[in-house]
Amino acid sequence: MSRPVPSRWTVGLVQYAPAFGRKAENLAAVEALLRDVRADLVVLPELFATGYLFRDAAEALELAEPVPDGLTCRTLQDWSRRWDMAIVAGIAERAPDGIYNSAVLVDARTDTLEIYRKIHLFNEEKVWFRPGNLGFRVFSVRGVQVGVMVCFDWIFPEACRTLALKGAQVVAHPANLVLPYCQRAMPIRSLENRVFCVTANRTGADVREDGRRLAFTGQSIVTAPDASVLLALGPDEVRAAVVEVDPRMALDKQVTTRNHVLRDRRPEYYRMS
Ligand code: ACM
Repeated sequence: MSRPVPSRWTVGLVQYAPAFGRKAENLAAVEALLRDVRADLVVLPELFATGYLFRDAAEALELAEPVPDGLTCRTLQDWSRRWDMAIVAGIAERAPDGIYNSAVLVDARTDTLEIYRKIHLFNEEKVWFRPGNLGFRVFSVRGVQVGVMVCFDWIFPEACRTLALKGAQVVAHPANLVLPYCQRAMPIRSLENRVFCVTANRTGADVREDGRRLAFTGQSIVTAPDASVLLALGPDEVRAAVVEVDPRMALDKQVTTRNHVLRDRRPEYYRMS
């Protein structure tokens, strides 16, 4: 028999500015932000421990870590155990066949460690990483179905749709956004799939010795199945924030009594031929 879906569930996110390549410093900064957070699930940004703007694939390899045996993953497991919360966090994953821009889900309560590998790589990521090969994945976290996508996946509506079709109620979305569009789109991703979305973006900029600079847009956001914005951070804010949601809302896919956002789809008309 399946367990009842909880009516009160807390989701949090962390927005901060990692210092490129300075893992110990970044882990300490996030630990300080998490210290006062109590939530069922907390989402950290994409590549939260390394920073984003790699020089080349060799540098991505140098900073990447095996999962679950690397420092970052072990630290996430330690935080999960210490503060009894599930965590989704973006990580440069060193796998036997290459480097992936991944997100891990850890929950010490259930000894959970799962991986999602970013499917839609953005711009130079195509030089640094291999494209994800594990599909879109949904995991049971404390009674709630949690799907994971990473940053640029948002621009492909199929990503969030696939997670919703697989039963996601909450979509955890670690991000390092540089374009200004995603935060405006997320209420609609939530609405069209009737799911909660938690976009944890970073802020600040990566500035490299060769003069390259990339700034990130902050404005992390939590959106609800009715397109409402439950939480929105500023472009430069550095903080953790938590909001309570009712995950049962995401089980109701009706937008009118006669319209169900998943069952009313007409996939036979979505094909090119
Ligand atoms: C992105 O996918 N990090 C823009």
